[in-house]
Amino acid sequence: MSDRVEKAQKLAGKVFGTVHGPLQPKAICDRGEGIYLFDQDGKRYMDFSGGPMAVSIGHGDKRVRDAMIEQMNKVSFFFRGFWLNEPLLALADRITKISPPNLTMCQFCNSGSEATETAIKIAHQYHLERGKPEKYMVIGRWQGYHGMTLGALSASGLTLRRGKFGQLLNQWPKIGAPLCYHCPYDLSYPGCKIRCAQALDEIINQVGAQYVSAFIAEPIGGAATACMVPVPEYYPMIREICDKHDVLFIDDEVICGFGRTGKWFGIEHWGVKPDIITSAKGMTGCYTPMAVVIIDEKIGKLFTEKGAAFIHGFTMEGNPVSAVACLTVLDIMEEKGLIERCAKVGEYFFKQAKEKLSNHATVGDIRGKGFLMGIEMVKSRETKEPFAPTLRASYRLQQLAMEKGCMIYPTTGVINGIKGDHFLVAPPLIITEEEIDTAFDMLDEAFTDFEKEVL
Ligand SMILES: Cc1ncc(COP(=O)(O)O)c(C=O)c1O
Repeated sequence: MSDRVEKAQKLAGKVFGTVHGPLQPKAICDRGEGIYLFDQDGKRYMDFSGGPMAVSIGHGDKRVRDAMIEQMNKVSFFFRGFWLNEPLLALADRITKISPPNLTMCQFCNSGSEATETAIKIAHQYHLERGKPEKYMVIGRWQGYHGMTLGALSASGLTLRRGKFGQLLNQWPKIGAPLCYHCPYDLSYPGCKIRCAQALDEIINQVGAQYVSAFIAEPIGGAATACMVPVPEYYPMIREICDKHDVLFIDDEVICGFGRTGKWFGIEHWGVKPDIITSAKGMTGCYTPMAVVIIDEKIGKLFTEKGAAFIHGFTMEGNPVSAVACLTVLDIMEEKGLIERCAKVGEYFFKQAKEKLSNHATVGDIRGKGFLMGIEMVKSRETKEPFAPTLRASYRLQQLAMEKGCMIYPTTGVINGIKGDHFLVAPPLIITEEEIDTAFDMLDEAFTDFEKEVL
Protein backbone atom coordinates (compact mmCIF):
# COMPACT_ATOMS: atom_id res chain seq x y z
CA MET A 1 0.00 0.00 0.00
CA SER A 2 1.41 3.42 -0.94
CA ASP A 3 2.00 6.12 1.69
CA ARG A 4 -0.72 8.18 0.06
CA VAL A 5 -3.37 5.46 0.43
CA GLU A 6 -2.21 4.62 3.96
CA LYS A 7 -2.53 8.28 4.97
CA ALA A 8 -6.00 8.55 3.38
CA GLN A 9 -7.19 5.37 5.09
CA LYS A 10 -6.02 6.71 8.46
CA LEU A 11 -7.75 10.05 7.84
CA ALA A 12 -10.95 8.20 6.88
CA GLY A 13 -11.32 7.63 10.62
CA LYS A 14 -11.93 11.37 10.97
CA VAL A 15 -15.06 11.21 8.82
CA PHE A 16 -17.86 9.70 10.84
CA GLY A 17 -20.03 8.47 7.95
CA THR A 18 -17.11 6.87 6.12
CA VAL A 19 -16.05 4.59 8.97
CA HIS A 20 -19.57 3.84 10.12
CA GLY A 21 -21.18 3.30 6.70
CA PRO A 22 -21.88 -0.02 4.96
CA LEU A 23 -19.22 0.56 2.28
CA GLN A 24 -15.58 0.96 3.28
CA PRO A 25 -13.67 2.66 0.45
CA LYS A 26 -10.12 1.36 -0.05
CA ALA A 27 -8.77 3.53 -2.87
CA ILE A 28 -8.45 7.25 -3.54
CA CYS A 29 -10.43 8.71 -6.42
CA ASP A 30 -7.87 10.81 -8.25
CA ARG A 31 -9.63 12.06 -11.36
CA GLY A 32 -12.59 11.52 -13.66
CA GLU A 33 -13.04 11.57 -17.40
CA GLY A 34 -16.19 10.65 -19.31
CA ILE A 35 -17.60 7.42 -17.90
CA TYR A 36 -14.38 6.59 -16.02
CA LEU A 37 -12.84 7.35 -12.64
CA PHE A 38 -9.15 6.73 -11.94
CA ASP A 39 -7.51 5.75 -8.66
CA GLN A 40 -4.19 6.92 -7.21
CA ASP A 41 -2.25 4.43 -9.36
CA GLY A 42 -4.02 5.40 -12.57
CA LYS A 43 -6.19 2.26 -12.58
CA ARG A 44 -9.37 2.92 -14.54
CA TYR A 45 -12.87 2.08 -13.24
CA MET A 46 -16.02 2.33 -15.29
CA ASP A 47 -18.64 4.36 -13.39
CA PHE A 48 -21.35 1.93 -14.41
CA SER A 49 -23.74 3.08 -11.68
CA GLY A 50 -23.14 6.80 -12.23
CA GLY A 51 -22.23 6.93 -8.52
CA PRO A 52 -25.60 6.61 -6.78
CA MET A 53 -27.55 6.72 -10.09
CA ALA A 54 -26.61 10.36 -10.52
CA VAL A 55 -23.82 11.17 -13.02
CA SER A 56 -25.51 12.15 -16.29
CA ILE A 57 -23.20 13.73 -18.88
CA GLY A 58 -20.03 12.05 -17.60
CA HIS A 59 -17.07 13.25 -15.54
CA GLY A 60 -14.64 16.08 -16.24
CA ASP A 61 -16.67 18.01 -18.79
CA LYS A 62 -14.60 21.12 -19.57
CA ARG A 63 -17.57 23.10 -20.80
CA VAL A 64 -19.32 22.82 -17.43
CA ARG A 65 -16.09 23.64 -15.62
CA ASP A 66 -15.47 26.73 -17.79
CA ALA A 67 -19.04 27.97 -17.38
CA MET A 68 -18.76 27.63 -13.59
CA ILE A 69 -15.41 29.44 -13.55
CA GLU A 70 -16.79 32.23 -15.72
CA GLN A 71 -19.67 32.70 -13.28
CA MET A 72 -17.29 32.57 -10.29
CA ASN A 73 -15.14 35.25 -11.91
CA LYS A 74 -18.24 37.46 -11.93
CA VAL A 75 -19.84 36.53 -8.59
CA SER A 76 -20.08 33.21 -6.73
CA PHE A 77 -22.78 34.00 -4.24
CA PHE A 78 -25.32 36.60 -3.24
CA PHE A 79 -28.33 36.28 -0.98
CA ARG A 80 -31.47 35.30 -2.86
CA GLY A 81 -33.53 37.63 -0.65
CA PHE A 82 -31.65 40.72 -1.85
CA TRP A 83 -31.03 40.15 -5.57
CA LEU A 84 -32.59 38.76 -8.71
CA ASN A 85 -30.51 35.79 -9.83
CA GLU A 86 -30.33 35.77 -13.65
CA PRO A 87 -28.90 32.25 -14.16
CA LEU A 88 -31.44 30.80 -11.74
CA LEU A 89 -34.35 32.55 -13.43
CA ALA A 90 -33.16 31.22 -16.78
CA LEU A 91 -32.96 27.76 -15.23
CA ALA A 92 -36.49 27.96 -13.80
CA ASP A 93 -37.77 29.00 -17.23
CA ARG A 94 -35.90 26.14 -18.89
CA ILE A 95 -37.08 23.51 -16.39
CA THR A 96 -40.73 24.52 -16.59
CA LYS A 97 -40.52 24.25 -20.40
CA ILE A 98 -39.43 20.60 -20.24
CA SER A 99 -41.82 19.67 -17.38
CA PRO A 100 -45.42 18.46 -17.72
CA PRO A 101 -47.38 21.59 -18.79
CA ASN A 102 -49.30 21.95 -15.51
CA LEU A 103 -46.03 22.48 -13.60
CA THR A 104 -45.16 26.13 -13.99
CA MET A 105 -42.97 27.20 -11.06
CA CYS A 106 -39.73 26.01 -9.44
CA GLN A 107 -38.38 26.15 -5.90
CA PHE A 108 -34.67 25.33 -5.66
CA CYS A 109 -32.69 23.61 -2.92
CA ASN A 110 -29.48 21.60 -2.55
CA SER A 111 -30.32 17.91 -2.32
CA GLY A 112 -33.02 15.37 -3.04
CA SER A 113 -33.83 15.17 0.67
CA GLU A 114 -34.31 18.91 0.88
CA ALA A 115 -36.53 18.72 -2.20
CA THR A 116 -38.75 16.16 -0.44
CA GLU A 117 -38.93 18.32 2.71
CA THR A 118 -39.82 21.31 0.57
CA ALA A 119 -42.52 19.42 -1.33
CA ILE A 120 -44.07 18.15 1.92
CA LYS A 121 -44.22 21.70 3.28
CA ILE A 122 -45.62 23.17 0.05
CA ALA A 123 -48.35 20.50 0.01
CA HIS A 124 -49.20 21.18 3.65
CA GLN A 125 -49.37 24.94 3.23
CA TYR A 126 -51.43 24.55 0.04
CA HIS A 127 -54.14 22.76 2.02
CA LEU A 128 -53.77 25.17 4.92
CA GLU A 129 -54.31 28.20 2.70
CA ARG A 130 -57.48 26.52 1.37
CA GLY A 131 -58.85 26.22 4.89
CA LYS A 132 -57.90 22.55 5.33
CA PRO A 133 -55.10 22.71 7.93
CA GLU A 134 -55.87 19.21 9.17
CA LYS A 135 -54.62 17.66 5.89
CA TYR A 136 -51.09 16.83 7.04
CA MET A 137 -50.24 13.15 6.42
CA VAL A 138 -48.01 12.13 3.55
CA ILE A 139 -48.68 8.59 2.45
CA GLY A 140 -45.71 6.73 0.98
CA ARG A 141 -44.91 3.18 -0.10
CA TRP A 142 -43.03 0.44 1.66
CA GLN A 143 -39.52 0.30 0.19
CA GLY A 144 -40.02 3.82 -1.16
CA TYR A 145 -37.10 6.17 -0.58
CA HIS A 146 -37.22 9.94 -0.53
CA GLY A 147 -34.23 11.03 1.53
CA MET A 148 -32.45 10.89 4.86
CA THR A 149 -33.80 14.01 6.61
CA LEU A 150 -36.59 13.40 9.09
CA GLY A 151 -39.58 14.47 7.00
CA ALA A 152 -38.26 12.67 3.93
CA LEU A 153 -37.47 9.55 5.94
CA SER A 154 -40.95 9.66 7.49
CA ALA A 155 -42.41 9.52 3.98
CA SER A 156 -39.98 6.72 3.05
CA GLY A 157 -40.73 3.07 3.69
CA LEU A 158 -37.22 1.71 3.60
CA THR A 159 -37.01 -0.22 6.86
CA LEU A 160 -33.22 -0.43 7.05
CA ARG A 161 -32.78 3.31 6.68
CA ARG A 162 -35.65 4.16 9.03
CA GLY A 163 -34.73 1.47 11.56
CA LYS A 164 -32.66 3.24 14.21
CA PHE A 165 -34.49 6.55 13.86
CA GLY A 166 -38.07 5.31 14.18
CA GLN A 167 -38.79 7.42 17.25
CA LEU A 168 -37.81 10.59 15.43
CA LEU A 169 -40.17 9.95 12.52
CA ASN A 170 -43.80 10.73 11.78
CA GLN A 171 -45.50 7.37 11.60
CA TRP A 172 -47.35 8.14 8.38
CA PRO A 173 -49.13 5.24 6.63
CA LYS A 174 -47.55 3.24 3.80
CA ILE A 175 -48.94 1.08 1.03
CA GLY A 176 -47.23 -1.92 -0.60
CA ALA A 177 -44.78 -1.44 -3.46
CA PRO A 178 -46.12 -2.12 -6.99
CA LEU A 179 -43.39 -4.73 -7.47
CA CYS A 180 -44.80 -7.69 -9.41
CA TYR A 181 -41.69 -9.83 -8.83
CA HIS A 182 -42.55 -9.84 -5.08
CA CYS A 183 -46.22 -8.85 -5.17
CA PRO A 184 -47.07 -7.70 -1.62
CA TYR A 185 -50.56 -9.22 -2.13
CA ASP A 186 -49.37 -12.51 -3.66
CA LEU A 187 -51.36 -11.80 -6.81
CA SER A 188 -50.49 -11.86 -10.50
CA TYR A 189 -51.02 -9.23 -13.15
CA PRO A 190 -53.51 -8.58 -14.74
CA GLY A 191 -55.82 -10.74 -12.60
CA CYS A 192 -54.74 -8.66 -9.58
CA LYS A 193 -56.81 -5.69 -10.83
CA ILE A 194 -53.89 -3.54 -9.69
CA ARG A 195 -54.56 -4.16 -6.04
CA CYS A 196 -51.38 -2.23 -5.20
CA ALA A 197 -52.96 0.98 -6.56
CA GLN A 198 -56.36 0.29 -4.98
CA ALA A 199 -54.49 0.08 -1.67
CA LEU A 200 -54.08 3.86 -1.77
CA ASP A 201 -57.84 4.36 -1.95
CA GLU A 202 -58.35 1.94 0.93
CA ILE A 203 -55.79 3.53 3.22
CA ILE A 204 -57.06 7.06 2.53
CA ASN A 205 -60.58 5.89 3.41
CA GLN A 206 -59.27 4.24 6.56
CA VAL A 207 -57.26 7.15 7.91
CA GLY A 208 -59.74 9.73 6.60
CA ALA A 209 -59.15 11.84 3.49
CA GLN A 210 -59.52 14.96 5.63
CA TYR A 211 -56.13 14.13 7.19
CA VAL A 212 -54.20 13.27 4.03
CA SER A 213 -52.11 15.93 2.33
CA ALA A 214 -50.15 14.02 -0.32
CA PHE A 215 -49.06 10.70 -1.75
CA ILE A 216 -45.39 10.41 -2.68
CA ALA A 217 -43.79 7.87 -5.01
CA GLU A 218 -40.79 7.37 -7.27
CA PRO A 219 -42.14 6.72 -10.80
CA ILE A 220 -39.68 3.87 -11.31
CA GLY A 221 -38.42 2.52 -8.01
CA GLY A 222 -34.88 3.43 -7.12
CA ALA A 223 -32.42 2.01 -4.67
CA ALA A 224 -34.90 0.08 -2.55
CA THR A 225 -36.92 -1.78 -5.15
CA ALA A 226 -34.18 -2.38 -7.71
CA CYS A 227 -35.86 -0.24 -10.37
CA MET A 228 -39.34 -1.72 -10.25
CA VAL A 229 -41.49 -0.51 -13.14
CA PRO A 230 -45.18 -0.39 -12.16
CA VAL A 231 -47.71 -1.76 -14.68
CA PRO A 232 -49.30 0.69 -17.20
CA GLU A 233 -52.55 1.10 -15.23
CA TYR A 234 -50.81 1.96 -11.96
CA TYR A 235 -50.18 5.73 -12.13
CA PRO A 236 -53.41 6.61 -13.96
CA MET A 237 -55.22 4.85 -11.09
CA ILE A 238 -53.09 6.65 -8.49
CA ARG A 239 -53.88 9.99 -10.15
CA GLU A 240 -57.60 9.26 -10.07
CA ILE A 241 -57.51 8.22 -6.42
CA CYS A 242 -55.56 11.35 -5.42
CA ASP A 243 -58.05 13.57 -7.27
CA LYS A 244 -61.01 11.78 -5.68
CA HIS A 245 -59.67 12.52 -2.18
CA ASP A 246 -58.18 15.99 -2.79
CA VAL A 247 -54.70 14.59 -2.15
CA LEU A 248 -51.65 15.94 -3.99
CA PHE A 249 -49.44 13.55 -5.95
CA ILE A 250 -45.73 14.22 -5.32
CA ASP A 251 -43.63 12.53 -7.98
CA ASP A 252 -40.08 11.92 -6.71
CA GLU A 253 -37.88 12.16 -9.79
CA VAL A 254 -34.62 12.51 -7.88
CA ILE A 255 -33.22 9.52 -9.77
CA CYS A 256 -35.52 9.31 -12.81
CA GLY A 257 -35.60 13.02 -13.66
CA PHE A 258 -33.54 14.73 -16.35
CA GLY A 259 -33.37 11.87 -18.78
CA ARG A 260 -32.31 8.80 -16.82
CA THR A 261 -35.19 6.65 -18.15
CA GLY A 262 -35.25 7.94 -21.73
CA LYS A 263 -37.70 10.81 -21.10
CA TRP A 264 -37.18 14.09 -19.26
CA PHE A 265 -39.23 12.69 -16.36
CA GLY A 266 -40.01 9.07 -15.54
CA ILE A 267 -43.73 9.71 -14.99
CA GLU A 268 -44.07 10.61 -18.69
CA HIS A 269 -43.99 6.87 -19.45
CA TRP A 270 -47.47 6.74 -17.87
CA GLY A 271 -48.75 10.04 -19.31
CA VAL A 272 -49.78 11.19 -15.83
CA LYS A 273 -49.49 14.75 -14.53
CA PRO A 274 -48.25 15.02 -10.95
CA ASP A 275 -48.97 18.07 -8.78
CA ILE A 276 -45.37 18.38 -7.64
CA ILE A 277 -42.14 16.94 -9.03
CA THR A 278 -38.94 16.77 -7.00
CA SER A 279 -35.62 16.20 -8.72
CA ALA A 280 -31.86 16.41 -8.10
CA LYS A 281 -28.90 14.13 -8.98
CA GLY A 282 -28.67 14.20 -12.81
CA MET A 283 -29.82 17.80 -13.19
CA THR A 284 -26.35 19.18 -12.46
CA GLY A 285 -24.60 16.12 -13.81
CA CYS A 286 -23.18 16.02 -10.25
CA TYR A 287 -20.91 19.01 -10.83
CA THR A 288 -22.46 20.80 -7.87
CA PRO A 289 -25.28 20.26 -5.35
CA MET A 290 -28.65 21.37 -6.71
CA ALA A 291 -32.23 20.17 -6.50
CA VAL A 292 -35.60 21.44 -7.62
CA VAL A 293 -39.26 21.22 -6.71
CA ILE A 294 -41.51 21.89 -9.70
CA ILE A 295 -45.00 23.02 -8.77
CA ASP A 296 -48.47 22.90 -10.31
CA GLU A 297 -49.90 26.20 -11.51
CA LYS A 298 -52.92 25.88 -9.17
CA ILE A 299 -50.60 25.83 -6.15
CA GLY A 300 -48.65 28.90 -7.30
CA LYS A 301 -51.90 30.75 -8.08
CA LEU A 302 -53.38 29.99 -4.69
CA PHE A 303 -50.33 31.31 -2.84
CA THR A 304 -50.48 34.46 -4.99
CA GLU A 305 -54.22 34.98 -4.45
CA LYS A 306 -53.86 34.55 -0.70
CA GLY A 307 -50.74 36.75 -0.57
CA ALA A 308 -49.18 33.83 1.28
CA ALA A 309 -45.43 33.78 1.84
CA PHE A 310 -43.70 30.41 1.79
CA ILE A 311 -41.42 30.73 4.81
CA HIS A 312 -38.80 28.20 3.81
CA GLY A 313 -35.39 28.24 2.15
CA PHE A 314 -31.71 27.41 2.44
CA THR A 315 -28.68 29.70 2.44
CA MET A 316 -26.99 28.08 -0.56
CA GLU A 317 -30.21 27.40 -2.48
CA GLY A 318 -30.04 28.07 -6.22
CA ASN A 319 -26.70 29.85 -6.07
CA PRO A 320 -25.62 31.26 -9.44
CA VAL A 321 -22.65 28.92 -9.91
CA SER A 322 -24.85 25.84 -9.48
CA ALA A 323 -27.49 27.37 -11.74
CA VAL A 324 -24.93 27.94 -14.49
CA ALA A 325 -23.70 24.35 -14.10
CA CYS A 326 -27.27 23.07 -14.54
CA LEU A 327 -27.91 25.27 -17.57
CA THR A 328 -24.73 24.01 -19.23
CA VAL A 329 -25.60 20.39 -18.44
CA LEU A 330 -29.03 20.92 -20.02
CA ASP A 331 -27.38 22.51 -23.11
CA ILE A 332 -25.10 19.50 -23.45
CA MET A 333 -27.96 17.04 -23.01
CA GLU A 334 -30.01 18.75 -25.68
CA GLU A 335 -27.18 19.26 -28.15
CA LYS A 336 -26.05 15.64 -27.87
CA GLY A 337 -29.63 14.33 -27.86
CA LEU A 338 -28.79 12.33 -24.73
CA ILE A 339 -32.38 11.61 -23.77
CA GLU A 340 -33.31 10.14 -27.14
CA ARG A 341 -30.01 8.29 -27.03
CA CYS A 342 -30.82 6.90 -23.58
CA ALA A 343 -34.18 5.58 -24.84
CA LYS A 344 -32.55 3.95 -27.88
CA VAL A 345 -29.28 2.63 -26.45
CA GLY A 346 -31.18 1.73 -23.28
CA GLU A 347 -32.82 -1.10 -25.21
CA TYR A 348 -29.41 -2.45 -26.16
CA PHE A 349 -28.32 -2.05 -22.53
CA PHE A 350 -31.17 -4.30 -21.32
CA LYS A 351 -30.70 -6.81 -24.13
CA GLN A 352 -27.01 -7.19 -23.31
CA ALA A 353 -27.65 -7.48 -19.57
CA LYS A 354 -30.09 -10.30 -20.17
CA GLU A 355 -27.85 -12.04 -22.69
CA LYS A 356 -24.70 -11.83 -20.58
CA LEU A 357 -26.04 -12.28 -17.06
CA SER A 358 -29.26 -14.27 -17.03
CA ASN A 359 -27.42 -17.59 -17.32
CA HIS A 360 -26.13 -17.01 -13.77
CA ALA A 361 -28.07 -19.02 -11.19
CA THR A 362 -27.98 -16.12 -8.72
CA VAL A 363 -29.49 -13.53 -11.07
CA GLY A 364 -33.19 -13.47 -10.17
CA ASP A 365 -34.57 -10.54 -12.11
CA ILE A 366 -33.34 -7.72 -14.33
CA ARG A 367 -35.69 -4.73 -14.50
CA GLY A 368 -35.88 -1.00 -15.16
CA LYS A 369 -35.98 1.40 -18.10
CA GLY A 370 -33.59 3.52 -20.16
CA PHE A 371 -30.26 3.62 -18.34
CA LEU A 372 -31.72 2.66 -14.98
CA MET A 373 -31.42 -1.04 -14.21
CA GLY A 374 -31.84 -3.10 -11.08
CA ILE A 375 -30.52 -6.63 -10.82
CA GLU A 376 -31.92 -8.77 -8.04
CA MET A 377 -29.70 -11.51 -6.61
CA VAL A 378 -31.29 -14.73 -5.35
CA LYS A 379 -30.16 -17.93 -3.74
CA SER A 380 -32.73 -19.86 -5.78
CA ARG A 381 -34.25 -18.63 -9.00
CA GLU A 382 -37.19 -21.05 -8.72
CA THR A 383 -38.30 -19.99 -5.24
CA LYS A 384 -36.84 -16.44 -5.36
CA GLU A 385 -35.32 -17.25 -1.97
CA PRO A 386 -32.92 -14.48 -0.94
CA PHE A 387 -29.44 -14.90 0.50
CA ALA A 388 -29.03 -14.62 4.25
CA PRO A 389 -28.67 -10.90 5.08
CA THR A 390 -25.42 -11.73 6.95
CA LEU A 391 -23.80 -12.75 3.65
CA ARG A 392 -24.17 -9.16 2.35
CA ALA A 393 -24.32 -10.64 -1.13
CA SER A 394 -24.67 -7.42 -3.14
CA TYR A 395 -21.82 -5.78 -1.25
CA ARG A 396 -19.60 -8.77 -1.97
CA LEU A 397 -20.50 -8.60 -5.65
CA GLN A 398 -19.69 -4.88 -5.62
CA GLN A 399 -16.18 -5.64 -4.26
CA LEU A 400 -15.60 -8.29 -6.93
CA ALA A 401 -16.82 -5.99 -9.71
CA MET A 402 -14.71 -3.11 -8.41
CA GLU A 403 -11.60 -5.32 -8.54
CA LYS A 404 -12.37 -5.86 -12.22
CA GLY A 405 -12.78 -2.12 -12.80
CA CYS A 406 -16.57 -1.87 -12.82
CA MET A 407 -18.55 0.20 -10.32
CA ILE A 408 -22.07 -0.86 -9.32
CA TYR A 409 -24.42 0.36 -6.55
CA PRO A 410 -25.19 -2.43 -4.05
CA THR A 411 -28.07 -2.40 -1.62
CA THR A 412 -30.53 -4.60 0.28
CA GLY A 413 -34.09 -4.88 1.49
CA VAL A 414 -35.99 -5.37 -1.75
CA ILE A 415 -38.34 -8.00 -0.27
CA ASN A 416 -39.51 -6.61 3.04
CA GLY A 417 -37.11 -3.78 3.67
CA ILE A 418 -34.61 -6.13 5.33
CA LYS A 419 -34.19 -9.22 3.17
CA GLY A 420 -33.18 -9.45 -0.47
CA ASP A 421 -30.04 -8.28 -2.27
CA HIS A 422 -29.79 -6.26 -5.40
CA PHE A 423 -27.63 -3.74 -7.15
CA LEU A 424 -28.23 -0.92 -9.55
CA VAL A 425 -26.48 0.09 -12.72
CA ALA A 426 -27.16 3.53 -14.16
CA PRO A 427 -24.25 4.62 -16.35
CA PRO A 428 -23.67 8.17 -17.57
CA LEU A 429 -25.96 8.81 -20.53
CA ILE A 430 -22.95 9.11 -22.87
CA ILE A 431 -21.94 5.43 -22.56
CA THR A 432 -21.37 3.62 -25.88
CA GLU A 433 -22.53 0.16 -26.93
CA GLU A 434 -18.94 -1.17 -26.79
CA GLU A 435 -18.55 0.15 -23.25
CA ILE A 436 -21.83 -1.49 -22.27
CA ASP A 437 -20.48 -4.81 -23.60
CA THR A 438 -17.26 -4.40 -21.61
CA ALA A 439 -19.14 -3.58 -18.42
CA PHE A 440 -21.40 -6.62 -18.65
CA ASP A 441 -18.37 -8.81 -19.40
CA MET A 442 -16.82 -7.56 -16.15
CA LEU A 443 -20.07 -8.22 -14.27
CA ASP A 444 -20.32 -11.67 -15.84
CA GLU A 445 -16.86 -12.46 -14.41
CA ALA A 446 -17.77 -10.95 -11.03
CA PHE A 447 -20.87 -13.19 -10.86
CA THR A 448 -18.76 -16.24 -11.76
CA ASP A 449 -16.36 -15.46 -8.89
CA PHE A 450 -19.27 -14.77 -6.53
CA GLU A 451 -21.02 -18.03 -7.39
CA LYS A 452 -17.79 -19.99 -6.78
CA GLU A 453 -17.85 -18.57 -3.24
CA VAL A 454 -21.53 -19.09 -2.40
CA LEU A 455 -22.99 -21.98 -4.39
C1 LIG B 1 -35.71 8.67 -5.12
C2 LIG B 1 -34.85 9.48 -4.19
N1 LIG B 1 -35.36 10.53 -3.54
C3 LIG B 1 -34.62 11.28 -2.73
C4 LIG B 1 -33.30 11.00 -2.51
C5 LIG B 1 -32.47 11.85 -1.59
O1 LIG B 1 -31.57 12.60 -2.34
P1 LIG B 1 -30.23 13.19 -1.68
O2 LIG B 1 -29.34 12.04 -1.39
O3 LIG B 1 -29.70 14.13 -2.73
O4 LIG B 1 -30.65 13.92 -0.46
C6 LIG B 1 -32.71 9.93 -3.17
C7 LIG B 1 -31.29 9.61 -2.96
O5 LIG B 1 -30.77 8.61 -3.36
C8 LIG B 1 -33.50 9.14 -4.04
O6 LIG B 1 -33.01 8.08 -4.68
